[in-house]
Amino acid sequence: MKKTKKRGIEVLVFAKEKEVAEEVAGLITKEIRKKSGLRLGLATGKTMIPVYRELVKLYKKKKVNFSKVKIFSLDEYVGTNKMRNYLEKNFFSKVNVSRSNINLLDGKARNLNLECKRYEKDIGRLDLQILGIGRNGHIGFNEPGSGFRSNTRKIKLERATLKDKGKFPEFALTIGIGTILRANKILLVGFGKSKSETISSALDKMSKKIPASALQRRKNVLFVLDKQAGKNLK
Ligand code: GLP
Repeated sequence: MKKTKKRGIEVLVFAKEKEVAEEVAGLITKEIRKKSGLRLGLATGKTMIPVYRELVKLYKKKKVNFSKVKIFSLDEYVGTNKMRNYLEKNFFSKVNVSRSNINLLDGKARNLNLECKRYEKDIGRLDLQILGIGRNGHIGFNEPGSGFRSNTRKIKLERATLKDKGKFPEFALTIGIGTILRANKILLVGFGKSKSETISSALDKMSKKIPASALQRRKNVLFVLDKQAGKNLK
């Protein structure tokens, strides 16, 4: 494992994807052990699949107890519950997260503005936010151009994002960059060479063109990458 620091962000680079997933699952577990009622912000996407797999393993070995953890998540496609279903399938159904502690964005809400306001208020300040990163540098669904103080809102997805994601709705609800930056600790996970360029940009000049570069504003941010994703970092 290689450890570096760029623009105030700590970066761990592991040889293999599995090692990244184990490290991230281990760090989440550590935070839950310190605070059983941890306010945890989850991410979805391909990147997170191996992380949930490792978390489920740790749960089965009785190394972690999710019963008091308060669960939130980053985003949802408008008109759907796709993210909820993803989390249900890959995580909630396999561990002891308590139903009453799950609080997600409802993409099917009748009044989306009100839903965003509700979520912004409910989320408050998270203890730990987990993030993936889009190829265009998005975090959550905060596409390029998003304000660094933005709150939970409806957003139109870029063509590049829609291409990466396959057949999905054009609009999504996402917590804002401002919402993310309020979290006490932020952990970004990245795999593969398709993310290497955007990750090195995120650790270069801060710019609205690369939403993840906003993370440089905060202390307590950690990137955990595999060798491919970290290949452009010197
Ligand atoms: C998506 C989601 C994020 C996710 C990111 C990366 O659009 N909104 O939660 O972290 O993009 O996705 P993937 O891991 O599939 O590359």
